[in-house]
Amino acid sequence: MAKLKWGMIGGGEGSQIGPAHRMGALADGRFEMAAGALDHRPDIGREYAQRLGVAVDRAYGDWQEMLAGEKDREDRIDLVTVATPNSTHFEITKAFLEAGFNVLCEKPMTMTVEEGEEIVEIAEKTGKICAVNYCYSAYPMVRQARAMVRNGEIGKVRVVVTNFSHGHHGDATDADNPRVRWRYDPAMAGVSGQFADCGIHAMHMASFICDDEVESLSADFASAISSRELEDDAMVNFRMQGGTIGRLWTSSVAIGRQHGFEIQVFGETGGLRWHAEQPNQLIYTPVGGRTQIIEKGEGGLHEDAQRLSRVAIAHPEGFPLAVANIYCDLADAIRGEKRDGLPNAADGLRSMAAVHTAVASAKEGGVWMDARPSIFR
Ligand code: NAI
Repeated sequence: MAKLKWGMIGGGEGSQIGPAHRMGALADGRFEMAAGALDHRPDIGREYAQRLGVAVDRAYGDWQEMLAGEKDREDRIDLVTVATPNSTHFEITKAFLEAGFNVLCEKPMTMTVEEGEEIVEIAEKTGKICAVNYCYSAYPMVRQARAMVRNGEIGKVRVVVTNFSHGHHGDATDADNPRVRWRYDPAMAGVSGQFADCGIHAMHMASFICDDEVESLSADFASAISSRELEDDAMVNFRMQGGTIGRLWTSSVAIGRQHGFEIQVFGETGGLRWHAEQPNQLIYTPVGGRTQIIEKGEGGLHEDAQRLSRVAIAHPEGFPLAVANIYCDLADAIRGEKRDGLPNAADGLRSMAAVHTAVASAKEGGVWMDARPSIFR
């Protein structure tokens, strides 16, 4: 089977997420890197793309040039990844979808709910795939957790507790560092800081594993470093449509935590726990029974978890392979196979609605508000 052609916008040399996309897209031989506009500095982006093996005529200076260069080619790219800073996601994703390309957009998909609604509508109208990179949902043990919930193995879910908290912006003496400062500046980051950056991963994960959607929420936002206009710490209580009680904490001032993303799901007959720093293990406790460790790659896993386990049991699989799982599902979806685990534009829109609702709720002292996008009410 011929490889699918893949292009990338953003993710240039030295970027945080670019390498994970390249490792992920190329891991399974499903895609080849055919085009790129990798950097906000055109010449540097062109040069880097060529070093990565992209042909000179497809190493573009910016995304507009890439769109113009790709759209009429017979061998045009089958998928474009948008891994640029947040405020550019909407216009790039919109332009490529409208030109008939499949898109994988980094989170957050847009800056506003209205933009999110527009992307959902364009994806529906064009029939093109618009996926959003909630890559944690593609770890095999997260897929196992979701399958166990779907299979009734912990009974009806009562409570989900999740947090995504780190301490990397906790040094007040570093708060003015331009690489840190923009994240808490509304002109650059939008309406929310830490919740829009990390909290939405946790909220998506809660929906993903519980197989349910957030209906309402109440938020408390705070700036632990008082010079920050946007929140660096947030507590969000929520309720899901099926009645599940949700609790979410996200912080960037939690010194001592490195990448503290974890989730616990408590059902009527059992509980599950998963931690991003130990992603190959899922902790399961049946009611009245012993706690067990379910390992990636062991026998008897649910199909989705088995399919996405790459190397033998006990050999670690980490973040780039979770991203690779997103690309595997994308390759299948582009070839017409149904992959219901793939995070899509509707998920991107739900996150945006949650962000804006949380901001409004926090401003009103934590008033409970409907968190669903109006087009899904
Ligand atoms: P970064 O600042 O490290 O890198 C951004 C890259 O995009 C740079 O190479 C820059 O030159 C390039 N760029 C900027 N504007 C561009 C433009 N108009 N055209 C082409 N290239 C452009 O940013 P980082 O941390 O890699 O984040 C990028 C996106 O990925 C963000 O939306 C972020 O939220 C998301 N992200 C997602 C993660 C996940 O777990 N899914 C993890 C980290 C980041």
